[in-house]
Amino acid sequence: MGRLDHKVCLITGGARGQGEEEVRLFQKQGAIVWLCDVLDDLGQPLADELGVQYRHLDVTDEAAWQNLVEEIVRTSGGIHGLVNNAAIFRVGRLKTTSVEDFQAVMRVNTLGVFLGMKTVAEPMTESGGGSIVNISSMAGLRASVGSFAYGASKWAVTGMSKTAAVELARKGIRVNSVHPGLIETPMVEDVPINKEGIIRRTPLGRIAQAEEVARMALFLTSDESSYSTGSEFIIDGGLNAL
Ligand SMILES: NC(=O)c1ccc[n+]([C@@H]2O[C@H](COP(=O)([O-])OP(=O)(O)OC[C@H]3O[C@@H](n4cnc5c(N)ncnc54)[C@H](O)[C@@H]3O)[C@@H](O)[C@H]2O)c1
Repeated sequence: MGRLDHKVCLITGGARGQGEEEVRLFQKQGAIVWLCDVLDDLGQPLADELGVQYRHLDVTDEAAWQNLVEEIVRTSGGIHGLVNNAAIFRVGRLKTTSVEDFQAVMRVNTLGVFLGMKTVAEPMTESGGGSIVNISSMAGLRASVGSFAYGASKWAVTGMSKTAAVELARKGIRVNSVHPGLIETPMVEDVPINKEGIIRRTPLGRIAQAEEVARMALFLTSDESSYSTGSEFIIDGGLNAL
């Protein structure tokens, strides 16, 4: 028996990185998975490999969200899980972040999460309830020196998750945020960060693999986390404990 049997789940930014691992794990655990991304060249072959559904979705597009969620409900009979995973990263301190970069990051990372929650709230209620997992970051719990806009966007995700959790609790919908430290994915491949320094400071002495975040998303989407809502779930190898 799978941990997500019969649950219809949508994962944004599912074509690579953590999203891809979530797609793989959710499918393995019995979910009916829909994945979406703007990277069609990666998303479609992944969906074909696993026998799941891929759709192009730019998470900043409200009409596209509505069309996709309607199609999911029509085709799969409901929606029970949403992982708001899609995001972008930009380098820049307070003084060096341009308005364009700030707005671009806020649109994908914050507006995208807002639209996702707003769009699924009613159909998820009508499906008997469900779970929304918003991928924030340690940058959504602490200072984010050198990635100012990203930090702002991820704090917004942390805050929106709490308010949505309270507003949606009596509709049978749980909302939690996930806060990864440094994870080995394409997002951080070319970013000028001192990975060795982070590894030295991290109590567990390494950075994480995408699957370790996917396992948290699985737990929070499954009924195993039935009494958790409005909470932050940290995956950082112990850094936050220092
Ligand atoms: N990698 C890390 O160290 C780290 C740390 C903390 C939090 N996170 C968060 O984890 C999540 C996953 O990131 P990742 O590390 O797998 O990065 P990634 O860049 O590999 O994956 C992000 C995915 O989001 C997609 N995406 C970007 N803009 C989009 C849009 N407008 N609409 C739809 N999809 C879009 C990308 O195409 C990509 O597939 C993100 O929310 C990220 O902020 C990552």
